[in-house]
Amino acid sequence: MADPTRYLAALAITEVLREQGSLAASLPLALTQAEAKERALLSQMVYGTCRYYPQLNSIAQHLLNKPLRNRDLDIYALMLVGLYELSHMRTPHHAAVGSCVEAAKASGQAWAPALINGVLRAFLRQRETLPQALEDTPEFHYNHPHWLQVKLANHWPDYWQAILCANDQQAPMTLRVNQRHHTTPEYLALLAKANIQAKACTFSPWGVQLANSCQVDELPGFAQGWVSVQDEAPQLAPTLLDLQTGQRVLDACAAPGGKTGHLLEIADVQVTAVELEQRRIGRLHDNLQRLQLSAEVICADASQPESWWDGQAFERILLDAPCSATGVIRRNPDIKLLRSNEDITRLAQLQLTLLQQLWPTLAPGGLLVYATCSVLRQENERIIKRFLQAQEDAQQQAIVADWGQATDYGRQLFPRPDGHDGFYYAVLKKAFP
Ligand SMILES: C[S@@+](CC[C@H](N)C(=O)[O-])C[C@H]1O[C@@H](n2cnc3c(N)ncnc32)[C@H](O)[C@@H]1O
Repeated sequence: MADPTRYLAALAITEVLREQGSLAASLPLALTQAEAKERALLSQMVYGTCRYYPQLNSIAQHLLNKPLRNRDLDIYALMLVGLYELSHMRTPHHAAVGSCVEAAKASGQAWAPALINGVLRAFLRQRETLPQALEDTPEFHYNHPHWLQVKLANHWPDYWQAILCANDQQAPMTLRVNQRHHTTPEYLALLAKANIQAKACTFSPWGVQLANSCQVDELPGFAQGWVSVQDEAPQLAPTLLDLQTGQRVLDACAAPGGKTGHLLEIADVQVTAVELEQRRIGRLHDNLQRLQLSAEVICADASQPESWWDGQAFERILLDAPCSATGVIRRNPDIKLLRSNEDITRLAQLQLTLLQQLWPTLAPGGLLVYATCSVLRQENERIIKRFLQAQEDAQQQAIVADWGQATDYGRQLFPRPDGHDGFYYAVLKKAFP
């Protein structure tokens, strides 16, 4: 029988290759079709193949005599899965080749098994000489799309190699402890009792990092809202907002509500959460319901306040802007396939527009925290610089912190192996007239 796991992995990747969607959309579907005992393997193959896509793709292109047709992308994806298994997993080589050849039968193309067999065996024969043969292929060396590697090297001459390296590591599972139920040391004690090894995060007072990932239902009190899954870097947003009881707070790009919940956990404030995508609002409601917290949730375009704003100014605004997500590649490796250089220009325009359009809704004396999970200056400090140049009543507030590093505008965190994701923050204060 054809091997369904590897072919299902290939189909999930094919969707991403066709730019039909992200892994977040295609992997769950593949998982529902897989046998329960195969699901972990399927996820590992899909994530791993995307993580090493730039490298595996250059190897496949080198080994193929002629490129496959667009309609055979499933077979190409299966080839990449096979190359991933041979180069990064511990499966004995003959078993990995055999399983991929079997899987190719599921494609219904009579020629596919022989092609997969030929390419994978060629890889095993040429493995040692590939680095030399591909010496002029930057995607092979750096395992990132060339445009991104060049941009990072330009933006961060001293850090880009460390960023690339951290992007290829598996991220730890990090939790945020809901202080309405437990202090962080109390929750650490609950984890220890449940035999879940964990330690307090370095920078977030609410953060706990697990030694090994687990299912959320294994976490004490997850269903009751005692804890949420959230990386340490986004947990730092409330440390910059200086929240005071009773304040009106706008969470401008809110879904799935990670930060909305956090704001409400630590302060008695009135939160208005605005989110553009109706399909993402469900998760925002689910998160608030699990945490037993409430906010006014509005499905609208935050860049058009005239369509949703009641005219009462907000004392605090969190603008967690849509971005390239280049700081969270290790959690979303499909970004390597999906993002393009042109996207960055488009996103930067959107980010600036959001900032400019939301500014009038901020009360004089109020604070706006601008955040992204990007490590590109174009989406971060350059947005703040452009905004400040044109907005006379906006001042930058220096961020005094022991995390990340200061830039001319705001503070940048880079992804750290065994630590937080890449992230960026800037704090703006509105002057009194
Ligand atoms: C970085 S995510 C926000 C993550 C969220 N703050 C959290 O902590 O869970 C950015 C969100 O902005 C939404 N978005 C994009 N453009 C928007 C717009 N014009 N108005 C409101 N939301 C928008 C996206 O759909 C996405 O859910």
